[in-house]
Amino acid sequence: MRSGSYAGFMGSPIEEAALALSRARRVVVLTGAGISAESGLRTFRDTMEGLWKSFDPQKLATPEAFAADPETVTRWYDHRRVGCLAAEPNAGHAALAELERRVTRRSGDAGGGAGGGRFTLLTQNVDRLHQRAGSVNVVELHGSIIEWRCTKTGEKITPGPEAMTEFPPRSPCGALLRPDVVWFGEMLPERAVHAAQEAVGSCEVFLSIGTSAQVYPAAGFIHQAARNGAKTIEVNKDPTPISRMVDWALHGRAGDVLPEVVRLMN
Ligand code: OAD
Repeated sequence: MRSGSYAGFMGSPIEEAALALSRARRVVVLTGAGISAESGLRTFRDTMEGLWKSFDPQKLATPEAFAADPETVTRWYDHRRVGCLAAEPNAGHAALAELERRVTRRSGDAGGGAGGGRFTLLTQNVDRLHQRAGSVNVVELHGSIIEWRCTKTGEKITPGPEAMTEFPPRSPCGALLRPDVVWFGEMLPERAVHAAQEAVGSCEVFLSIGTSAQVYPAAGFIHQAARNGAKTIEVNKDPTPISRMVDWALHGRAGDVLPEVVRLMN
């Protein structure tokens, strides 16, 4: 960890992290699959279950896999899509929605500065659970599994909650449909990257939650924020490559740690 105390205040790491968040007017949060684990969704690097045991998710999540075997790839994504829709946001998601309300309500500086604070939630998750928990300013870096798009026209559709019946699915024009997610080897949506860069460049606190911090560019944001002078916090149940560089590494389940952080904020 880079430093132990915050502005002369000596508390436990979670108290200091809560104090940093209490004072910040520009906060960026980055989430990964770990925050949805307590909603029953498997993280990306967990082993696959049931029928999918012999498949490697990293091999299914590529344009090459889709081109070679669209049936298997769309079956797997539809299986995950239905799981995401059946899942419920957990206490970690709810705490982040509350954190956003607190930061954006925060008034300007003592001189009556303009507007409230700014909160940006960057997520690598495709499950939409943050929005369902009430988060508003959410940037989906890896797209969404809830929406699918036509490989010919780019038109987006939102399939219903039941499993699809035809694989690979087709759009009304007859072309293949694919999940509106970012696959390995694909570019991230330009608007999302731009929004992320802008928020990271000016944040005072950067909070990384439930991500193995291995997949770029998302994994680079915390380093960029730290270089700009932001305080950095990690919440993860296990140590990760960034645990040693952050100001406060809070180890535990996101659904336990985040509500406690918000409770400790003043
Ligand atoms: P990973 O599956 O790589 O990592 C999940 C992280 O969450 C791990 O560090 C776990 O220790 C942690 N974790 C698990 N349960 C937790 C809990 N209850 N509370 C807190 N932490 C917990 O998932 P991501 O980092 O999200 O990309 O993966 C990033 C990207 O890599 C994904 O978006 C996906 C994948 O390849 C694409 O598909 C392009």
